[in-house]
Amino acid sequence: MDLLEHQARDVFARHGVPVLPGILARTPAEARAAADKLGTPVLVVKAQVKVGGRGKAGGVKVVRTPAEAEEAARAILGMDIKGHTVHSVLVAEGAEIAEEYYFSLLLDRSSHGLTALCSKEGGVEIEQLAKERPEALARVEIDPLEGLTAEAARDLLEAAGFDVEQVGAIAPVLERLWEVYRDEDATLVEVNPLVRTVGGEILALDGKVSIDDNALFRHESFAAFAAEENADPLEEEARRLGLNYVKLDGAVGVVGNGAGLVMSSLDVVAYAGRDFGGIHPANFLDIGGGASASVMADGLGLVLADPQVTSVFINVFGGITACDQVALGIVGALEKLGDRATKPIVVRLDGNAVEEGREVLRRAKHPLVHIADSMDDAARQAAALAAGK
Ligand SMILES: Nc1ncnc2c1ncn2[C@@H]1O[C@H](COP(=O)(O)OP(=O)(O)OP(=O)(O)O)[C@@H](O)[C@H]1O
Ligand SMILES: [Mg+2]
Repeated sequence: MDLLEHQARDVFARHGVPVLPGILARTPAEARAAADKLGTPVLVVKAQVKVGGRGKAGGVKVVRTPAEAEEAARAILGMDIKGHTVHSVLVAEGAEIAEEYYFSLLLDRSSHGLTALCSKEGGVEIEQLAKERPEALARVEIDPLEGLTAEAARDLLEAAGFDVEQVGAIAPVLERLWEVYRDEDATLVEVNPLVRTVGGEILALDGKVSIDDNALFRHESFAAFAAEENADPLEEEARRLGLNYVKLDGAVGVVGNGAGLVMSSLDVVAYAGRDFGGIHPANFLDIGGGASASVMADGLGLVLADPQVTSVFINVFGGITACDQVALGIVGALEKLGDRATKPIVVRLDGNAVEEGREVLRRAKHPLVHIADSMDDAARQAAALAAGK
């Protein structure tokens, strides 16, 4: 997961990376209060979105008074930056910048290691710099077991053209940034700009940090960030249940076992839906290989709780868990759901013990369940039912 700037800033501060004081605000009034509290003669109000180029889009404003901070926050909050809506702003102390540099440390799969990048010309669009004048961007490969040692930090800074005094001032900050990368299980730590102030201080004025999702269980605070930002309540519920669910926009709820099968289910629903005025799938839901009654109940319950859903397509290929077990899971799930199951459900079973599975469904005689012979047939029935036909 990617962290917002203010979250990255907090992580930096914890690891001794020099940052400026700042306060997060969600309303113009909060921004005013934050500016008042910070009390410095120059402040910046910065959009908190997980996309680059905020400054260019008008999402970073320098202000001088609490009233101006409020005004800037009013302009920035709700702004759309490359498809991301701004829900909060960071009100931070203003720095007196002498020079802007660039630094990043990232996972480099091709070299099976890490790459550290640094430039004396930060603040600008670094992709452009890399393309137009690659020599201005120093690059050092880092052994992941050694990390960015003091020596590697100095090598990188020298390669970027810093003089001895600057190398001495900046290297310790890069070492702290390596500690962020290592201790937080990051895949990217980027600072643009890393600045030298008129007073000679080195400061991280902007931070981008990506955390390896596979390590989130080791970092409770990040897991909380992830839950907080997840706007869709169904996706949040799915996360809580441990289900692999993505909310989409259509009317046919889809439940399947195996990501590949679920993706092709989405395709066949969308294809069949063209004949019924453009019916689309309502979600992606992979309940995995096990498909026990309780997982099936959780999954079906989740899909049926989506108000946009008007029919459900269950697509299961029996493997180690045979179709009769899956069918028992569906029957059990419907029993568990009781009155909450209110929409027609088309079931397509195939694979191991398919006949036994269909027999289980036929005997249960649930009024909402339709048994389909093939995947295409099932998708067609589900699309027709969703369209009210
Ligand atoms: N605290 C600050 N004090 C003074 N100037 C700042 C401060 N923060 C940012 N700036 C100025 O604003 C510019 C843009 O800020 P920042 O790097 O945070 O946003 P951005 O680069 O536009 O966004 P992104 O990094 O998401 O592309 C910086 O290069 C710097 O010149
Ligand atoms: Mg930046």
